[in-house]
Amino acid sequence: MSLLSAHGISIAFGGLRALEDVSFSVDAGEVLAIIGPNGAGKTTLFNIVSGLYRAQSGRVMLAGRDVTGLPPHRLAALGLARTFQNLQIFFRMSVLENVMVGRHLKERRQLVAELLGLPSVLRENSATREAARDLLAFVGLAERAHEPAQSLPYGALKRLEIARALACEPKVLMLDEPAAGCNPVETEEIDRLIVAIARKGVAVVLVEHDMKLVMRISDRVLVLDQGRVLAQGRPQEVRADPRVIAAYLGRHGLASAHAA
Ligand SMILES: Nc1ncnc2c1ncn2[C@@H]1O[C@H](COP(=O)(O)OP(=O)(O)O)[C@@H](O)[C@H]1O
Ligand SMILES: [Mg+2]
Repeated sequence: MSLLSAHGISIAFGGLRALEDVSFSVDAGEVLAIIGPNGAGKTTLFNIVSGLYRAQSGRVMLAGRDVTGLPPHRLAALGLARTFQNLQIFFRMSVLENVMVGRHLKERRQLVAELLGLPSVLRENSATREAARDLLAFVGLAERAHEPAQSLPYGALKRLEIARALACEPKVLMLDEPAAGCNPVETEEIDRLIVAIARKGVAVVLVEHDMKLVMRISDRVLVLDQGRVLAQGRPQEVRADPRVIAAYLGRHGLASAHAA
């Protein structure tokens, strides 16, 4: 049984069929990449699976449970975390505090106890702090814990966002373009981080258009084109698929050939 699966997902916006009968699954410890040209429906698929949009048809299963239509906070509590294509960082808060915010869900701390400053809450807070520090070390930001987030370079902010998503100890982590806008060195760091996360047993689903990154780190690739599944399989198979070459790599290849 897969940890996360989507079955026959379809959605239309007005007359536009953004997704048409899309299915995928991902297991613990596996990296699944979703690729495809701009407008293919990648982010929409993320939005449906993470509970922001409701599919017009199809089902989403998480750890053996039908979670179709559950809101994001319920899904998060059940072990699904995501990041967004655009940074969602609290820039004036410290790096450590940004991660602690992500832990919030996990704690289920009681408001009254918190207001009264009861010892159990204080303990919980120091546990939160400890867990956040460990995560910062894991993503390579331990030394910058007390700096305001706004002082970090872009690639570090992308890693901070991943640390925050990990703070609720997800079983499934969904990353929408985790290396978008990063330079090659920053991209390499994010690569390594994604592989390390999967090695811990987390199922990772990522949207990416950097083909090199996808080929290096994914176990399987799902190719979307105009809302439909064009191909699905191991990176090598997908890269050699004539339909993929024609519809995606071909177009991009031509574009970059022209740009060069
Ligand atoms: N909330 C929305 N309302 C209307 N159209 C949308 C909405 N979200 C996405 N779309 C459209 O659905 C298609 C797929 O978009 P998206 O999932 O963002 O593509 P990708 O992430 O693959 O670039 C696009 O044509 C986009 O304009
Ligand atoms: Mg997108």
